[in-house]
Amino acid sequence: MGKTLSLVIPAFRERDNIAALVKRVHHALNDRDYELIVVDDNSQDGTEELVAELAMQYPVRIVVRRDKRGLASAVVDGFTHASGDAIAVMDADLQHPPEVLPALLQALEDGADMAIGSRYVKGGGCEGWSLLRRIMSKGAGFLAHLFLPSTRGIADPMSGFFMFRPDILTGADLHPTGYKILMEILVAGRPQKTVEVPFVFVARERGESKLRLSQQVDYLRHIASLMRRKGELTRFLKFCLVGSSGVLVNMGLLWTLTEFAGLFYMVSAAISIETSIVTNFLLNDFFTFPDRRSKGVGHFARRFAKFNLVSLGGLVVNMTVLWTLTSVVGLHYLVSNLFGIAAATVWNYLVNFWWTWK
Ligand code: GDD
Ligand code: MN
Repeated sequence: MGKTLSLVIPAFRERDNIAALVKRVHHALNDRDYELIVVDDNSQDGTEELVAELAMQYPVRIVVRRDKRGLASAVVDGFTHASGDAIAVMDADLQHPPEVLPALLQALEDGADMAIGSRYVKGGGCEGWSLLRRIMSKGAGFLAHLFLPSTRGIADPMSGFFMFRPDILTGADLHPTGYKILMEILVAGRPQKTVEVPFVFVARERGESKLRLSQQVDYLRHIASLMRRKGELTRFLKFCLVGSSGVLVNMGLLWTLTEFAGLFYMVSAAISIETSIVTNFLLNDFFTFPDRRSKGVGHFARRFAKFNLVSLGGLVVNMTVLWTLTSVVGLHYLVSNLFGIAAATVWNYLVNFWWTWK
């Protein structure tokens, strides 16, 4: 029989936290119908025996993975054992206070299908974090917002504490890399209504964090993997293709107007540049970002105006790189210009993606 709530708890060497966790969860959920599934990656520290003992008194069981390691993949494996009408994910080390669970449940009862325990909404926070860790965390969130549009508007897409309705995972293929299981679900799953519930990420009292520098690299790989799966890399390639077509338009027109229409080359250049901006805009609107444009002439005109401004910015980026690499670093100006074009392409893409076709 399905339970009301399944809690999936990734754990690696958390024996010293498990008993307190199980008791606090039980207390917080008092007479609710729930199950607690600890997914342990063969810790060999007595967690298995301890959970077996606790299972005599509480609805808790353990799934031990003998040949795999990894937080997010442990959670995905845990999902296959969860039968609840709602599924929650939380850490085993009590940095996610179980007392917040009722508020997450309430959010689902009020109609959300994803409720996130959030450090970055009013009332939430992090206890005892160094400035560096704060900056890293904010930076990671910024990257997610920049590259993965479905995380935009969510203040804490990297949280490891959340609750959702299982049907948001229907048809979703979960392949997370590293730690950020929530980000995977937000992008690969289909939540319709997400709300954030504040909580304070408290300091760890027992055991130690498994977070290593390699997880920062995993995080970047995870973003790239989600981008690829969502077709965002293809989109970037299309944008580059359109940009190359713009170069042809620009050069062709410059030559034609100067040689055959007899215009002064600077006049031809002005006309050519703007013409290539127009063709680039139209191609991007129909070919690169067809899924990201609102209908209506007003929206169309606004996108066009923004695209022009972004292109102007791209020109400044190109010229700045060109000048710096040539006059300061001493590269040949044609080589510098290649770097300038690359930098301007990245600039144009990101700002247009973020602002023009938002
Ligand atoms: N099964 C399993 N396998 N569990 C793991 C593994 C693993 O390889 N690595 C870590 N865990 C478990 C830990 O035992 C703990 O219960 C939880 O995952 C979080 O691991 P910590 O090592 O305590 O990570 P953290 O506190 O630095 O990170 C937490 O906060 C981040 C926000 O800053 C996690 O909740 C992250 O998901 C979250 O993004
Ligand atoms: Mn922790």
